[in-house]
Amino acid sequence: MAKGSFHAAAKPLQVVQNGAEGENLLKARDSIHGTKCLIIEGEQRIRGDIRINGAKNAAVAILPASLLTERSVKVDNLPNITDIHKLVDIIAALGAKVNSPLKGQLCVDASAVNGFAPPANLVNQLRASYYLMGSLLGRFGQVEVPMPGGCDLGPRPIDQHIKGFTALGAKVELEHGVVKIKARKLRGAHIYLDVVSVGATINIMLAAVKAEGKTIIENAAKEPEIVDTANFLNAMGCQVVGAGTDVIKINGVKSLGEVEHKVIPDRIEAGTFMIAAAATCGEAQICDVIPKHLDPLSAKLKEVGTEVEVGPDWIQVRGKTKLLPSDVKTFPYPGFPTDLQPPVMVLLTRAQGTSMITENVFERRFRHVDELKKMGAQIKVEGRTAVIEGGHKLFGAPVKAMDLRGGAAFIIAGLKSEGKTILTGIEHIDRGYEDIVERFKKLSVSIERSLV
Ligand code: UD1
Repeated sequence: MAKGSFHAAAKPLQVVQNGAEGENLLKARDSIHGTKCLIIEGEQRIRGDIRINGAKNAAVAILPASLLTERSVKVDNLPNITDIHKLVDIIAALGAKVNSPLKGQLCVDASAVNGFAPPANLVNQLRASYYLMGSLLGRFGQVEVPMPGGCDLGPRPIDQHIKGFTALGAKVELEHGVVKIKARKLRGAHIYLDVVSVGATINIMLAAVKAEGKTIIENAAKEPEIVDTANFLNAMGCQVVGAGTDVIKINGVKSLGEVEHKVIPDRIEAGTFMIAAAATCGEAQICDVIPKHLDPLSAKLKEVGTEVEVGPDWIQVRGKTKLLPSDVKTFPYPGFPTDLQPPVMVLLTRAQGTSMITENVFERRFRHVDELKKMGAQIKVEGRTAVIEGGHKLFGAPVKAMDLRGGAAFIIAGLKSEGKTILTGIEHIDRGYEDIVERFKKLSVSIERSLV
């Protein structure tokens, strides 16, 4: 990235306030505001079936991508989570008309968007705001976005995003924490990513779809959410080929049309409930999923002795009392997902023997360990490896979620432990799981929100 120059003050934000309308997706946020903690009674078993919501990590790319077209956009199966609420606020502040006629549906008309500097106070609150770089650069050839926020999982550089934008012909500067990107003309380029990055792959796609000529992204990430975003882009007239492989080719097009799209199911939400069923010796049918996306988890659950049955669009999990230890190594897709590492760690505390988890994707994604130890877990961390001595009872305790998936792991730990767990930091969970209390209620366990 270009070195920060501190001689000029950042320009005032060019924001047009249109506001967002609609009862369905946009209003439910009130129901979760103000609650401070979750109270989880221990020794509960998951039982029942649940339909999985749309994928957060696809939705948070698709909404910024909707700014690329001046024609109407309709997106279905969006999860009702605070990351989406914040993105809606951001794109509405930029001048897009957004409404939500049906539950899980958003209609976006970005024809009147003329700002390329989204409001800093909102952008700071979520990681996925980095997708505004690619989409606004693609639409206007210019964007000014503060460095993104999101879960603290250790250093989360955006050098590969910047490398891609620069290769496409943009000039990038960092001024007072604001990334300023400008291109007289975006031209297709051959880009080899040094690290496999979901964010960089999608962001470069967004910037390249309207560039002149052909862009090739090599060593691209292959996550299903990248494929879903590419399908959305292609449905609006882009020419993206190869998403889901490590070489993505994009032929730039001049103009884009209208689009209707349904977001794929959230494999991480599904995986969380699958692990919860396995960890609590419960039984759950996870419906409306793409089982292939969950292969790495299904294989691991079977390996430790959980019964997993796979149908065309559902997965049945039956937890067993006896659980074998295992080694888990996180990797980019189709490897074991880093987002399911905290929940699977809780599962392995139940195994009879020593398990090992190696976190290969994020440097500091073991922040849940100290809190799990408060609940009686026997875990040692050395560098990127955690050693879990299984078979020790967990006890309910006051614990604090430090990030989204760590938070989900504490709910599972609370359900299987003895006594009551009081979980704070639940704003992290609400960022990525739709109405977590109701969802667990559907699976016959009771968790309560509390104001104290
Ligand atoms: C996305 C997901 C997150 C998931 C992660 C890995 C979203 C909104 N978030 O995060 O839930 O845990 O993928 O599957 O989709 N890196 C660099 N330079 C860069 C970009 C990344 O060094 O420019 C490194 C990161 O520090 C990390 C690794 O690459 O070590 C993977 O990061 P990346 O795939 O980019 O994750 P995110 O897009 O941030």
